[in-house]
Amino acid sequence: MATVLAIETSCDETAVAIVKNRNVCSNIVASQIAVHASYGGVVPEVASRQHLTLINPCIEEALAESQLDWSGIDAIAATVAPGLVGALMVGMTAAKTLALVHQKRFIGVHHLEGHIYASYLSYPALVPPFLCLLVSGGHTSLILVKDCGKYEQLGMTRDDAAGEAFDKVARLLKLGYPGGPVIDKLAKTGNGKAFPLPVGRISLPEGGYHPYDSSFSGLKTAVLRLVNQLEKETDTLPIADLAASFQETVARSLTQKTIQCALDYGIKAIAIGGGVAANSGLRHQLQQAAIEKNLQVYFPPLKFCTDNAAMIACAAADHCDRGHFSDLNLGVRSRLPITEVMQLYQV
Ligand code: KG4
Ligand code: ZN
Repeated sequence: MATVLAIETSCDETAVAIVKNRNVCSNIVASQIAVHASYGGVVPEVASRQHLTLINPCIEEALAESQLDWSGIDAIAATVAPGLVGALMVGMTAAKTLALVHQKRFIGVHHLEGHIYASYLSYPALVPPFLCLLVSGGHTSLILVKDCGKYEQLGMTRDDAAGEAFDKVARLLKLGYPGGPVIDKLAKTGNGKAFPLPVGRISLPEGGYHPYDSSFSGLKTAVLRLVNQLEKETDTLPIADLAASFQETVARSLTQKTIQCALDYGIKAIAIGGGVAANSGLRHQLQQAAIEKNLQVYFPPLKFCTDNAAMIACAAADHCDRGHFSDLNLGVRSRLPITEVMQLYQV
């Protein structure tokens, strides 16, 4: 398999990694969380400027850590979609420049395909077809993985992404940004059954509900109403119980839809990816439900669940081996469905 240096700058992590044969030779992630935390969320213009400052040191560090030189690299990759346009531009331009200077092929990568490939980094024996639950700050998708570049989107969120819901609820509980890790920690000391909260459901025109699509904005509003009510009744909010009840509801909703989807499609293997895949409540519920239904769930380690460039390099290496390369005129896209991945290559 090809050896690829990849750059990931789609949001608020500047990441560079080198992957060879699904082995990670180096994996550098410079997080910007501290810079954005004071704004309560990611500020796109600030992210672009941070990427500009951090990109060259990260590239140098990734090369040094891998103990390879440019002659050992077959191709240069970068995330080109979806994401913040200014942020994506920094990583893509750096990758194209390196490709030109060192006469390597350039491979544009879809960020969500990268999250799917995070599973292969930890479980090299995993083979399609499998179902991938992708839950991050920007996405909540159930994707049927058929092969490299071949995906079917079976479920998605109709409003907020799961991570976005964690971040918004954390903000209204005044817990800071990002919300997922702090809610997860607090939930461990709270009672998940303390406050019954609604699971969002998507009505179908012909009646009934969509089996795999999610909605989290109603849940967020329910937490807001509950907090307003509790503030009238008490001086100290039961923060841990609120965090646990919210987390339990999100985890139950995602688990139910994922298991149902796997059973309906007769798929035995489920992989999970994205920042929310780090959530202990979701991991626990999904694992329990999978055991009951005799399904196998693959949980990549947290460093591969949150944004990183090793997953991007892993996806690019597979495309490289299949002769899928990108034109140097390829642009970045803020949105691109995962089903359209092959648009990025001249095959
Ligand atoms: O995949 P990721 O690093 O970036 C995106 O592509 O969005 O995901 C970031 C999201 C944030 O919304 C963050 O709050 C959430 O993942 N997150 C968590 C946990 N760790 C990170 N959500 C729930 N529980 C966690 N332990
Ligand atoms: Zn991501």
